[in-house]
Amino acid sequence: MAYAAFRSIGAYVPQKILTNEDLSKMVDTSDEWITKRTGIKERHIAAKEEFTSDMGVKAASLAIERSGIALEEIDMLVCATISPDYFCMPSTATIIATKLGIKGVTAFDISAACTGFVYALSVAKAFIESGMKKNVLIIGAEKLSAITDYSDRGTCILFGDGAGAAVISATQNKEEAIIDVHTGADGEYADLLMTPNGGSGSAHDELENEAAGCFMQMKGNETFKVAVRTLTNDVKEILEQNNIKSEDVTHFIPHQANYRIIKAVGDALKMRENQVVLTVAKYGNTSGASIPMAINDLYEAGKLKAGELMLLDAFGGGLTWGSALAPFSPIRDA
Ligand code: UT7
Repeated sequence: MAYAAFRSIGAYVPQKILTNEDLSKMVDTSDEWITKRTGIKERHIAAKEEFTSDMGVKAASLAIERSGIALEEIDMLVCATISPDYFCMPSTATIIATKLGIKGVTAFDISAACTGFVYALSVAKAFIESGMKKNVLIIGAEKLSAITDYSDRGTCILFGDGAGAAVISATQNKEEAIIDVHTGADGEYADLLMTPNGGSGSAHDELENEAAGCFMQMKGNETFKVAVRTLTNDVKEILEQNNIKSEDVTHFIPHQANYRIIKAVGDALKMRENQVVLTVAKYGNTSGASIPMAINDLYEAGKLKAGELMLLDAFGGGLTWGSALAPFSPIRDA
């Protein structure tokens, strides 16, 4: 049987930085409030002509280069995004594939909001273990600034742009294998976080008046509470089911939505401070891109070594949630 190995990571952040100070000139907020309630200090914003796919391509190019796997060997590409280049089609994954020069392979998007990267990982694992694919490129890419209402202080202080990518490939060595991926969803809570208009539920002749409804809306405080509960339970379950203790995890890499959520979940799971990866201060919430961007930060700081166990944990609109246990398994020189 083939196993799936987490081979490499890459990420990209756009140049422009939007600080809390900048936001305090746009809406009724302050650096103090944002820092205290979210831990966020700044976020990066893509240029007008920079699309989600452009950021995805940059992250993916790095991940491919670092994987040691040739571009021609990539046989599937999955992009997790809620801010695709185009609303319905073509998928952002197909655009990224073409920009990378990958032709004729399976390519599609996943819509699972902030849990998107974990969903993409579960798909890659399943395709590889079934023998259908060998090298899957998974990408989380978001231009959330394009769907953010910059007059709503409840959401605009949170979100940023960026992309992260990983190459997942087949191995016969069980020690290299992704151990488990959990994913779940509950549409009962759909209205906590949504872009209400612009879909098949919108009447065409009303669309012009409904433009504001295409931006994200969130019931922040309710989402916060469900997030802490769900993230904690999900991690407890995946650790228990795989007979792994939280102290055996080298890097706990949660979705970066809010420092207070991460702290509450980390404390409930008895994680030591040096296990928890934090990037929320400098990138804000980049939805499906946040986990691979955080893994990349760790990697580029020289803190992610072969064989170290990563625990991923995500939660987002849908509602969706997911967690994963995976050793970092770059191809080692013979
Ligand atoms: O990524 C996927 C999932 N998303 C999340 O997990 C996000 C979850 N939610 C959150 O991170 C937090 O709920 C927020 C950061 C969005 C809000 O923090 P909170 O501590 O839950 O605040 P709140 O919504 O309960 O609001 C408290 C007060 C309110 O004022 P009153 O009614 O007490 O007078 C708000 O109007 O803070 C006010 N407020 C603000 N004040 C200054 C809300 N947003 C702001 C703001 N600046 N930006």
